[in-house]
Amino acid sequence: MSGPALRQLHSHRAIHEGGLSGAIMKTEDLVGYLQQGETEMVNEACDHLLDYWKTRVISHADAEEEGFYKQLLEEKPELEREIIQLTRDHDLLRLLVSDIEAAREKEPNITAEIMQKFHALLVVNELHSREEERLLF
Ligand SMILES: [Fe+2]
Ligand SMILES: [Fe+2]
Repeated sequence: MSGPALRQLHSHRAIHEGGLSGAIMKTEDLVGYLQQGETEMVNEACDHLLDYWKTRVISHADAEEEGFYKQLLEEKPELEREIIQLTRDHDLLRLLVSDIEAAREKEPNITAEIMQKFHALLVVNELHSREEERLLF
């Protein structure tokens, strides 16, 4: 998703809300399978959730940095500090995703550390979206 949809608060917020609610649902699915001890479903849900973060949320961040943030910076250079801060939030999301991937490669089980990082993704993403909507619109 890019272009005009990102420039309008209403449509941009809808992208954020859709992304977050899907991530919450998929995280809850994963927690449920873990509690039931369904190993195969746990692994599937974990892969699915990781893929969701990459294709729905990180790709949104990439699109913003490649288009929306650049355009905005040209139009309003006074927003440079805010854009740097928001880009750092995106980097934290990317770091969390790559840490989870690295942990998955090392260890076949879903550890408490992995679950902490999935929950951290939800929190960082929620705060980031709120700040982005507040600072750039
Ligand atoms: Fe963003
Ligand atoms: Fe955004």
